[in-house]
Amino acid sequence: MNFEQPAVKNPKRYTVTTALPYANGPIHIGHLAGVYVPADIYVRYLRSTNQDVVFIGGSDEHGVPITIKARELGVTPQDIVDKYHAIIKQSFADLGISFDIYSRTTAKIHHETASEFFKKLYDNGKFIEKTTEQYFDEANNQFLADRYITGECPHCHNPNAYGDQCEQCGTSLNATDLINPKSAISGNTPILKETKHWYLPLDQYEDFFKKWILEEHKEWKPNVYGQCKSWIDLGLQPRAVTRDLDWGVKVPLENAEGKVLYVWFDAPIGYISATKEFRDDWEKYWKDKETKLVHFIGKDNIVFHCIIFPAMLKAEGSYILPDNVPANEFLNLENDKISTSKNWAVWLHEYLQEFPNQQDALRYVLTAISPETKDNDFTWKDFQTRNNSELLAIFGNFVNRTVVLIDKYYEGKVPQYTDLTDLDKEVVEEIKTIPQKVATSIEHYKFREALAEMMNLARVGNKYLTETEPWKLQKTEPERVKTILNLSLQICANLAIICEPFLPFTAEKINRMLNLSAQKWAEAGRVDLVPTGHQINKAEHLFSKIEDEQIAVQMQKLEAAKK
Ligand code: MF3
Ligand code: ZN
Repeated sequence: MNFEQPAVKNPKRYTVTTALPYANGPIHIGHLAGVYVPADIYVRYLRSTNQDVVFIGGSDEHGVPITIKARELGVTPQDIVDKYHAIIKQSFADLGISFDIYSRTTAKIHHETASEFFKKLYDNGKFIEKTTEQYFDEANNQFLADRYITGECPHCHNPNAYGDQCEQCGTSLNATDLINPKSAISGNTPILKETKHWYLPLDQYEDFFKKWILEEHKEWKPNVYGQCKSWIDLGLQPRAVTRDLDWGVKVPLENAEGKVLYVWFDAPIGYISATKEFRDDWEKYWKDKETKLVHFIGKDNIVFHCIIFPAMLKAEGSYILPDNVPANEFLNLENDKISTSKNWAVWLHEYLQEFPNQQDALRYVLTAISPETKDNDFTWKDFQTRNNSELLAIFGNFVNRTVVLIDKYYEGKVPQYTDLTDLDKEVVEEIKTIPQKVATSIEHYKFREALAEMMNLARVGNKYLTETEPWKLQKTEPERVKTILNLSLQICANLAIICEPFLPFTAEKINRMLNLSAQKWAEAGRVDLVPTGHQINKAEHLFSKIEDEQIAVQMQKLEAAKK
């Protein structure tokens, strides 16, 4: 029986998934800002609050584009996915995306899981069978996926339209709409041939979706809710869940040679397979109604995660449904759409090489400009400004001054604070209230707002030092200086806790400087995190300045891509 869950009230555990990126190219900043950075913030926060959480990622290794790329390069699809899976997995790890498991859909456990899932739906009569006519390339003896057929667009007469879309006028097409179709493999004119496929009859789930999404999940983000509503209002159609292709999970039926599961059928099951691979007790993460399931995705994935995958889960019958799908809009780069094929992107693996030990600068900027409610733009200039005048000038400068002064005046032994002035009391109040604001924003998937609140604590500290100028008081009012520096250090310790979801490398450095072990979220808000007399370590730099020349190099790289 399915639980038609409205929002899970007091979750016992969390299952957090991130869209499985196609393993036919590396990760770029658009992926990161849209999906992986927000998901990692959410999960790190949940762990800090002692929640039971699994954080699932993996590569999506099936689908037609991977076979096309392989054919172009004269290698096998497996070669392609092996290469990119390795690059993607490593670059996520290096950025500190803290997956519990990063798996892949060519894994044996995934083929078994997806196959069983399909079989169960088949056996329970959840599919309909339909025979249709599809283009077939006689020279190569194979059915042609829409992307493998080119021809003239019936609308704008572009001679090189694809069977699924004309990239000149943007119209989405059926292969049979093309004038003068050609096989992209042999160049021959394909013939129409009958083929049988299995369909998930989404039309039968319309009432369910009206209730489950439109009534019970009004709290979903407006962009997500709105897209779902327009799909449902248009009327849902049966969707084919199999394809004629030789790359993917084989259809586990007799007389189905040459057929595989449609990539969008097998890929989301990858979340389940990966959880299985990670834990023997995986079932409670997918079948207990007190588990909160959250899918982090980009806006182009909304229909698959809000309609098609939930319909699959409901048809299967024993799974929970997503509690939320906080999809983001798109991030552009220097005012142009990010494009893998046009090389218009900032690639994660290249950033990591060119800006060593500056993971948190990228995490910070991508969170600050995250396209949460509308498309947003990344520019290198803005990246430099945010790093230099926010992270470095405010956060870094504050922590550095505090640690340096305590080292200088007290040889690193934390001084005792005494009487608090009104200003000190205001600072204490901020230390107490800001962590709660950050938490509330994260829980509502408002990561930009959460980041801004976290930075407010660094601002409070920086302003406190600038206004009280303890370096001028050391001779005349040494007791006052002790209070100021003690409180400043308490702010640093609080920052280490509340910046960790956003800036994990920075949190670690602060803890090292303060000679403290990492502390949990529940401790945030305290002004005695670092005890009097505690010995701290020497200051290290939290952030480095990004120079104009570095930005110029990046702009030149983009110029080169333009040509
Ligand atoms: N590979 C798809 C994309 O990049 C996302 C797949 S998400 C999953 O758009 F749920 F199917 F895994
Ligand atoms: Zn066209």
